[in-house]
Amino acid sequence: MTDAVLSSPPAKASPFHELKVLWVKHWTDQLFSFAVERPEDFRFRSGEFVMIGLPGEDGGKPVLRAYSVASPNWAEELEFFSIKVPDGPLTSRLQKIVAGDTVLMGKKPTGTLVLDALTGGERLWLIGTGTGLAPWLSVARDPDTYARFSQVIVCHTVRGVADLAYRDFFEHGIHDDPLIGDEAKAQLRYYPTVTREDFVTPGRITDRITSGAAFADLDIEPGFRADRDRVMLCGSMAMIKQTAELLDGFGLKEGSNAEPGDYVLERAFVG
Ligand SMILES: Cc1cc2nc3c(=O)[nH]c(=O)nc-3n(C[C@H](O)[C@H](O)[C@H](O)COP(=O)(O)OP(=O)(O)OC[C@H]3O[C@@H](n4cnc5c(N)ncnc54)[C@H](O)[C@@H]3O)c2cc1C
Ligand SMILES: NC(=O)c1ccc[n+]([C@@H]2O[C@H](COP(=O)([O-])OP(=O)(O)OC[C@H]3O[C@@H](n4cnc5c(N)ncnc54)[C@H](OP(=O)(O)O)[C@@H]3O)[C@@H](O)[C@H]2O)c1
Repeated sequence: MTDAVLSSPPAKASPFHELKVLWVKHWTDQLFSFAVERPEDFRFRSGEFVMIGLPGEDGGKPVLRAYSVASPNWAEELEFFSIKVPDGPLTSRLQKIVAGDTVLMGKKPTGTLVLDALTGGERLWLIGTGTGLAPWLSVARDPDTYARFSQVIVCHTVRGVADLAYRDFFEHGIHDDPLIGDEAKAQLRYYPTVTREDFVTPGRITDRITSGAAFADLDIEPGFRADRDRVMLCGSMAMIKQTAELLDGFGLKEGSNAEPGDYVLERAFVG
């Protein structure tokens, strides 16, 4: 008998990393953030997403869902910003994790919400609804963003004021970031809007763009220009569709990793 027959077959490499949860922060009954340790060999581009999951119950198949990495590509830990769907197969359980627990993470990051998929411009708009803010937390902490764009505008539309997770971070905390703090202070604008409660900038971002209110609030020339504006969209499919149509109307062209353009979106984010 040969050695090959005697030795057991090589163990199949797991498609997932098993990662320790470092911290969990609950923002509201619907929203939370958590961070896991970063595997040494895990590389990603700011704005990409990865599969996150938990082992199946009673030894069943793991439950996995796509998640934008909210950390920038240089970070030592991997942060995620999550919805809590009460009867959601993953988040009904994921929302209960605590520091020290283990979550699964796919090994292959991917996605179109990356600087590589945009051609050069001056002003970068990062427009998100709900947890669609997650990739902007990554892109807005990447030094390349500020090297490529002189102005970066993070727009976040949510239902209630309490849903403006990371508001304090975008208004203050990011300015203390040792790597991009100074750039953020000089180049980053944060533009939150709230749809179902009183707020200083009420209503959907789409409506505030169409009416011109967003440009007036930001004190910039109304409208988008293909020679100046670049846009990333993430969140509700309805918002993405409407905003993409609006940008098409201004003559901006959708881009992809294969063919960079003026704006990018993640087609399958949320129904
Ligand atoms: C490319 C991509 C990136 C994503 N990134 C994130 C992320 O960073 N953070 C995040 O929380 N989710 C993200 N999602 C959604 C995520 O994959 C799951 O749908 C979510 O974790 C809920 O999983 P679930 O199994 O509990 O419920 P599911 O069965 O997946 O969802 C149940 C229903 O809940 C609603 N829903 C699901 N996710 C959301 C959400 N994020 N916001 C509002 N409504 C939602 C939808 O109506 C959905 O049909 C992303 C999805 C895609 C495709
Ligand atoms: N306080 C709460 O009870 C509460 C808070 C948050 C989430 N949730 C629950 O969590 C789930 C996900 O909710 P979510 O708020 O994260 O996601 P969501 O329903 O996609 O809404 C997020 C934000 O996107 C806006 N929006 C929707 N369609 C848009 C469009 N076409 N253009 C521009 N903006 C648009 C919404 O405005 P509109 O309000 O105008 O639709 C809202 O401000 C829901 O099942 C919800 O019931 C509940």
